[in-house]
Amino acid sequence: MRDYLTSLLLFSSLLTAEITGKEVYENKCASCHKLYIPASELIENFMEQNNSILKLDAPTINQIVFRLKNRIGDPKGDEDIHRMEVDSFVADYLMNPDKSKSVCLPKVLKYFKTMPSMKGKISVDEIDAVSTFLYDYNPDEHIEKKLEFVGYTKALETAKKENKIILLKLTREHCHFCQKMDQEVFSDTEVREALNKDFIVVEIDIGKEELPLKLKKGMTPTFVFVHKDEEIMAKIPGSWSKKDFLEILKEAVKAKGEEK
Ligand code: HEC
Repeated sequence: MRDYLTSLLLFSSLLTAEITGKEVYENKCASCHKLYIPASELIENFMEQNNSILKLDAPTINQIVFRLKNRIGDPKGDEDIHRMEVDSFVADYLMNPDKSKSVCLPKVLKYFKTMPSMKGKISVDEIDAVSTFLYDYNPDEHIEKKLEFVGYTKALETAKKENKIILLKLTREHCHFCQKMDQEVFSDTEVREALNKDFIVVEIDIGKEELPLKLKKGMTPTFVFVHKDEEIMAKIPGSWSKKDFLEILKEAVKAKGEEK
């Protein structure tokens, strides 16, 4: 009998020790809450397309986490206290969901039904685990895993150091107008000089590489001018003559100058 009890205790403590927040999320939340969708897609879906693109039934975890961490308690205060504030909000919400307590944007929330209560369906340990998982969830890790821009990251470093503009040159294999511009414009000395003076050029094959800054893939060539603090200054699609392209470069330099 005693052995049986000991092993039962051991077994159950092993079980509890093994619950990770991620597993709780996967088993009890993932059926409604998708983990990650880039912010740009979420904005388009909810703000412009009435949830018709993604047809979500519930906010994504990156959405929830962003709101939780910014709207509950004092986000700039002590981390342990903030963590407790978020934990208690989540624990309460799981038991007594009520849209009026929600921290989601009303414009987003209107597409969802109220979350069903999880009373009796989730243990205290599981709640703890899942709310730690939420608090520690870092959407940037997700982005970095998905995208690798050695070229862009380097360019950004240099742009900051040398106060230059990043020019993303978006091309694609067999793109006739990209090749035409390479031959007629980018090979030209005057253009090269203008580029070298004020820009760092990053060439990206959109058929093979991911785009930085949540840019969407579109026509090629497209020229995206990016300020050294990663603000997009202009997006200019199309094939340009040398004269027009030099004009475009000049405008970009002017825009940068004006803002200082
Ligand atoms: C049956 C679907 C469903 C399941 C399962 C579910 N949720 Fe939700 N949840 C929703 C919906 C819908 C909303 C948005 C409406 C609302 O806030 O009630 C929501 C909202 C939330 C919110 C945000 C409240 C706010 O302030 O906007 C949190 C936090 C949350 N869920 C956590 C969880 C966690 C953690 C789990 C798993 C343990 C879980 N949910 C399981 C459907 C679900």
